[in-house]
Amino acid sequence: MKIAMTALLLIASQAQAHEAALETFTTKPILADLADLKALDIPVLAKEESVGVGYAIITPEMQLKIQQRAHKVGKCGGFEDLTTEKNFQAVNFTSMLSSLAEIKAKNDLYDRAPFAAVSLEKNAQIEAAVGEVKEQNLREWVTWLSSYPTRYNRGSNPNLHVDAMKVRLQTLLASSNIPYEISLIDHSSTPQKSVRVRLTGSTRPNEVVVLGGHLDSINQGWGGGQQAPGADDNASGSANLLETLRIVSQKGQPQRSVEFFWYAGEESGLLGSAEIAKAYKNEKRDVVAVLQLDMTSYPGAGEFVIGNMTDFTSKWLHDYLRAVNETYLHARIVDDQCGYGCSDHASWFRQGYPTLMPFEATMRADNPLIHTAKDMINDKTNFAHSAMYSKLAVVFAMDLANSTARQPY
Ligand code: BES
Ligand code: ZN
Repeated sequence: MKIAMTALLLIASQAQAHEAALETFTTKPILADLADLKALDIPVLAKEESVGVGYAIITPEMQLKIQQRAHKVGKCGGFEDLTTEKNFQAVNFTSMLSSLAEIKAKNDLYDRAPFAAVSLEKNAQIEAAVGEVKEQNLREWVTWLSSYPTRYNRGSNPNLHVDAMKVRLQTLLASSNIPYEISLIDHSSTPQKSVRVRLTGSTRPNEVVVLGGHLDSINQGWGGGQQAPGADDNASGSANLLETLRIVSQKGQPQRSVEFFWYAGEESGLLGSAEIAKAYKNEKRDVVAVLQLDMTSYPGAGEFVIGNMTDFTSKWLHDYLRAVNETYLHARIVDDQCGYGCSDHASWFRQGYPTLMPFEATMRADNPLIHTAKDMINDKTNFAHSAMYSKLAVVFAMDLANSTARQPY
């Protein structure tokens, strides 16, 4: 019986998990997704709800369960093994708890602080730049990106569109007077690469304003084949970033650096952004603010209604969004929640950086066609609505990168 079980495990191409289960340890301390730990009935010894992380001491059996679940939902290892940390000792528990608490405290401080709400004076140059956003450009970018059969990170050619994107960026930036750098970023959790464009700041280049969205797509439908055009999710946000870059790169050099990201493997568990945000934190990079654009062309809650996701995002930037809206956009903002780390902003938020996630609609009114072969430009696609997110991104880049504003803590 024991032999048969072993054989089954191996046949199910779970040789790796099986190996792990045979690992000779009795228990080990880990950090894992809180939802996963709860779903698997693994006792959570400490947790931080605001970042969705839990601490547990697991047995080899529990490890196997976590790995199997992670595999199913497309995550990498499924947990962070604290025994592999440098200088691991029993005290690690205490330091781990304090780091969770530190993130939570940072994120809470702004809520409690008696600051006046952010306000923005209208700036003529920014207003003119906002006026340069063109719906037609968005349509062309989305048409191009959604013409790839898939942009899936586990596809047979996961960098086909990524390499093509680099060429397009070179053309787009050729006439810019701002020093810039285009990079393809390798990852260990996926063979797909993320794309980064850095516009180097003039006087405070080490202070960074980040604007990003995921470039990959996925097909999760039954019998839908492997087609994943991902027009709304997330060619739309990717197009917003390209249009923003086109405009901003033709203006004067910003004081702070502005970095644009098109992340890899978001649909398989925020893979690219998780690695990038972790690396930035390790390198102690001073990221002032992070804007995430993921799905902007389906106005499910009405045209010019922005769903402001309030989980895994920062109060300071919620106030900032309201100020930008009053001064430049004049849209309607509805607060809503994803309920989980639903996009790449969560990767940055988990590393303690301030984030904002303005969404095309509310969760209950979201696009029913995402993750299917039908996520294409159709009669619901609204580029005027989508253009609003590029306008917001233009303000985010031009205003924040020329100011000393920071999350006040
Ligand atoms: N764009 C979606 C997230 C989304 C969908 C937000 C609908 C709001 C409404 C994103 O690309 C996605 O699908 N994320 C995954 C989570 C990730 C951790 C695999 C998801 O929501 O399942
Ligand atoms: Zn998405």
